[in-house]
Amino acid sequence: MTTNTIHIKAPGCWMNDPNGFIYYKGKYHMFYQCFPYGPRWGRMHWGHAVSEDLVHWEHKGIALFPSKRGDRDGCFSGSAVEQDGKLYLYYTGVRYLLEDPEDTNLCLDDQFVSAQMIITSEDGVHFDNIKDKREIIAPIGERERGDAAHTRDPKVWRGADAWYMVLGTHGIDGNGRMLFYRSADLINWSYVNAVSKSGFGWMWECPDYYETKGGKVLSFSPMGFLKDGYKEENQSICMVVDFEEESCTMTMPDQYQFLDYGLDLYAAQSTVDQDGRRVMAAWVRMPETVGGEWIGMMCSPRVVEVEDGHIYFRMHPAVREAYGRAIDTPKEAAEAGYRAEADLEDGDGIDVGGYRIYRKGNQICTDRSLTAGDDRACRMQFETPEMKNGGHVEILVDSNLIEVFVNDGEYVISNAVYGIENQIVSDRKVKLFTVE
Ligand code: FRU
Repeated sequence: MTTNTIHIKAPGCWMNDPNGFIYYKGKYHMFYQCFPYGPRWGRMHWGHAVSEDLVHWEHKGIALFPSKRGDRDGCFSGSAVEQDGKLYLYYTGVRYLLEDPEDTNLCLDDQFVSAQMIITSEDGVHFDNIKDKREIIAPIGERERGDAAHTRDPKVWRGADAWYMVLGTHGIDGNGRMLFYRSADLINWSYVNAVSKSGFGWMWECPDYYETKGGKVLSFSPMGFLKDGYKEENQSICMVVDFEEESCTMTMPDQYQFLDYGLDLYAAQSTVDQDGRRVMAAWVRMPETVGGEWIGMMCSPRVVEVEDGHIYFRMHPAVREAYGRAIDTPKEAAEAGYRAEADLEDGDGIDVGGYRIYRKGNQICTDRSLTAGDDRACRMQFETPEMKNGGHVEILVDSNLIEVFVNDGEYVISNAVYGIENQIVSDRKVKLFTVE
């Protein structure tokens, strides 16, 4: 079976969202949206990768595939929880109302319905797609509550006195919206409340709510959010919120942060690692395939913490430790790439094989125009907001992804890249490390 170090990559096929991310029976499980038959989106399956340390991943093949009336056209995104040693996977089953609707614009025509479904496993590796799937929430019937087509991506968590679920939907007023449900037994769910806000797009994909060190965080991926002329209007954002669990009432502020200022990450999902840290993974949207063979990968896992009302996305210590061998030149780097560290003053820059990272005043900026592949419709230039602190950068360089952690996660800029050369030139001293 295929293995990956640090970054999980589509094994010869298509990958999008992380699903069912969980530490279960001593291993991390990362499921993901997958079309196993080629490097393009199609009827969704769940691929599966497993790791003991969040660093070395082994691909396990397909876990979920369309097999029931409710999910015959796709097993969309969802999450995982454990109860009494059993793994529960929640996901959205999709059923088309037209034959071959891909010939039209499926999304705009709404020619499909979505139900919330469950499948369980005793070991996290075997799933009975034929006998063990159940519909737990039928397609939404009342348009005032949500949308029969666009209601998806169940994220389930254990609350103080019950299990809770949040779903993303499209409100009748045209705004994105979240629906909250509660359950005592993980199977029977009742609707509790809806939360919505204008100015954040029309459909909220992959909502994730959690309490972490320093605060309560909502992260979601609003569709039609960033209308700045580039093709990806859907963006992942996050905010510090107030949430009252029993009534599922949430106060959402106007202020938000991008999850990542490279604007390539999408559909983030979090879990708790074996040491109790809140860890986030997200899909790296790649503008084009690699050699016509595969497309889609995950960013490195990040620790989410709130400090003074700001959400930090820090490099996971297991990732930093994995890049433990100091080297003099990137040419000595292993296949997993390398980690670079430097302090940038205003005007300083680093050139990573054609990809530029530089400091302009109190912002860190990147330019991928020489390394973006052939797709000229994607964004090329990126910048963080004004930094509170100095200009410390920690950079993870992989052949198809560069992640720039600024000031220990105050901001991160991650960009999908192509044709990166194994060289680095800098105005400042850069320290380099690779895996053992
Ligand atoms: C986000 C998303 C989810 C959906 C899945 C389908 O990228 O559109 O809302 O469940 O991907 O692949």
